[in-house]
Amino acid sequence: MIMETSVDLLLRWAHIFPAIVLIGGAIGGSLLAQPAVAPMARGAVIGGIVVMLGTGLSMMMSAMATAPKGWHMWFGIKFLFALHVFAMLFLLTKPGVAPEKRKRWQISAIVGTALVVFAAEYLRHLRGA
Ligand code: HEM
Repeated sequence: MIMETSVDLLLRWAHIFPAIVLIGGAIGGSLLAQPAVAPMARGAVIGGIVVMLGTGLSMMMSAMATAPKGWHMWFGIKFLFALHVFAMLFLLTKPGVAPEKRKRWQISAIVGTALVVFAAEYLRHLRGA
């Protein structure tokens, strides 16, 4: 059983919380009929992506040395899907986009996030955490 330090827990929190806020915000906005993209959206999305990349790379560095067979491949899969989600989030900060196009980006962000979180859980399972 791998003991997680408080730093690990803080990193994991700082990795997951922005994902909830960003992806929830990008999707929730349309469900709550928010008429327009908030001016601060792009800054918030870029800030969140930087935090998730930073915490993600730091967790990768600490897991990689002892990671079992298959972990690196699954990490690569997770990383590629994460980049896709980041791209969708960034596109969703564009004002004045046709509603049907926004809907496509939102659905693509949700599906991408579902695959990312599955891969994340599988990574943890592979490490026996
Ligand atoms: C949309 C983007 C992303 C989402 C939603 C996401 C979500 C998650 C979640 C939920 C976990 C925790 C799993 C758990 O503790 O049970 C996790 C772990 C992790 N994430 Fe991400 N992540 C994203 C992007 C990234 C990126 C860009 C990186 C690398 C730069 C990354 C690297 C990691 C690593 C190394 C772990 C730990 C895996 C392990 O426990 O073996 N993530 N991620």
